[in-house]
Amino acid sequence: MKLKHYFAVVAVSLTFSVFAAEDNPKITIDSTRPGATINRDIYGQFAEHLGRGIYEGIWVGKDSEIENINGFRTDVIEALREINVPLVRWPGGCFADEYRWRDGIGPRDQRPVRVNTHWGGVEEDNAFGTHEFFELVELLGAEAYVNGNLGTGNPREMAEWLEYMTGTSNSVVVEERRKNGRDAPWKIAYFGVGNEAWGCGGHMRPAYYADLYNHFATFLKTPRGSEPKFVASGGHTTDTSWTDVLSKNVQRQMDGISFHFYTLPTANWDDKGESTGFPEDQWFATLWQTLRMDEFIRLNKKVLDKNDPEKKLGFYVDEWGTWYNPEEGREPGFLYQQNTLRDAVVAALNFNVFHEHADRVHMTNIAQMVNVLQAMILTDKEKMVLTPTYHVYDLYQVFQDATALPFEIENPSSYRVGDQSLPGISASAARGKDGQIYLSLVNLDPNQSQNISVDVKGLELTRADGRLITADTMDAHNTFVAPNQIVPGDYQAEAEGSGALQLEVPAKSVLVVALKN
Ligand code: AHR
Repeated sequence: MKLKHYFAVVAVSLTFSVFAAEDNPKITIDSTRPGATINRDIYGQFAEHLGRGIYEGIWVGKDSEIENINGFRTDVIEALREINVPLVRWPGGCFADEYRWRDGIGPRDQRPVRVNTHWGGVEEDNAFGTHEFFELVELLGAEAYVNGNLGTGNPREMAEWLEYMTGTSNSVVVEERRKNGRDAPWKIAYFGVGNEAWGCGGHMRPAYYADLYNHFATFLKTPRGSEPKFVASGGHTTDTSWTDVLSKNVQRQMDGISFHFYTLPTANWDDKGESTGFPEDQWFATLWQTLRMDEFIRLNKKVLDKNDPEKKLGFYVDEWGTWYNPEEGREPGFLYQQNTLRDAVVAALNFNVFHEHADRVHMTNIAQMVNVLQAMILTDKEKMVLTPTYHVYDLYQVFQDATALPFEIENPSSYRVGDQSLPGISASAARGKDGQIYLSLVNLDPNQSQNISVDVKGLELTRADGRLITADTMDAHNTFVAPNQIVPGDYQAEAEGSGALQLEVPAKSVLVVALKN
């Protein structure tokens, strides 16, 4: 999308607004009934030892010709700082359940080489380990989510890793950290006890994992006041037995249960669909799949509301995003894929769902941060490009720690393909930390713009200011050669007289505006 073109779109929208039809969708926000806080950790990211996600994508080493800050590529760090990443999950994923933390400490040239059996069978030289991870989160101004190894590790290893990271004593483990150059303990916001126990983490049944969780968690100790939130590995389908069994049977420390869901256009793992050049029915199917997130959360919340009525437990969607067929000519195990306007819409739809369930969904991590699956950033040696998904994270920053506001949609529109339909518009409203009321609108329809009337009870709105992401084609994307094909443009609309504010939301777009009186 070109900025100039976009301004033309806005000008047209202002003209249209005068003629808004009576039966257009109308959103009424009630700012007098504040809901849950939209935890900033909903905007968390995931960086696994996978493909070029960490090596090359984030870490190039001090001696690299790529400009770097102590080994971290400067361009990537600067770009990520712009979107205010609150939390980073590391080292996996499936990788976590084979990771030996001791491999990644001490002098880099003495660290052992292992094989990354999950992702491409490549050699892992452990140049990026615990100290590098914490340096990364410090550079980003983010918090740390460390995922422990339950699958192939043992309670002692997990307990000692936690002690290494958080300990303040003179124990041999903490002294080792000091010897390796870090005196002060690090802060861990979340600690995961295994990953995908139902799959790559050990193919377990929920009851067996619940017992193992109790076993491992018994030994996970930190100095008083520096306890992370402990995360149990939960389910991934409409089957809520993981949430049920864990919330009933875990007696040791557990602050939340995780959930993973990936959006595959075809829902078929053998042929997931392409990241670009897809037909409209795959646009539709992708958005349909994405909106299943709402169903998954509702089902699990129902179980949690029964087993944990005091709402002590969080429901953490700590892996989500699109997953397409591997790109031709690339190592399939590296999960590198292009990222288009469709991904931007997928990200925004997920956020709107997460906001709606902010009372339980306190944390999520998109998979993944750089060069893997639905990434923020793609790199090719010294080149870097920001994806449409990055720009959605940028627009939605105003929702970090905002207070969700209830709203109603009258005359909701629908987007139809054949005899199937989806909602035409997805919305979310909140009062930001700066006191302003923000509204996000996603137009799912790739063909029709929509004219939406917006009202805030008790307020006379005069204008909306914000930013919009759209493009001419469903698979518009940025490349290393053309990095600005799709970037946000400014958006303004003014109310006509004392009538409600009318917003024209272009086809296939994501809009975030501040509503002003
Ligand atoms: O994000 C890629 C992989 O997907 C993760 O390693 C695993 O947890 C999930 O199956």
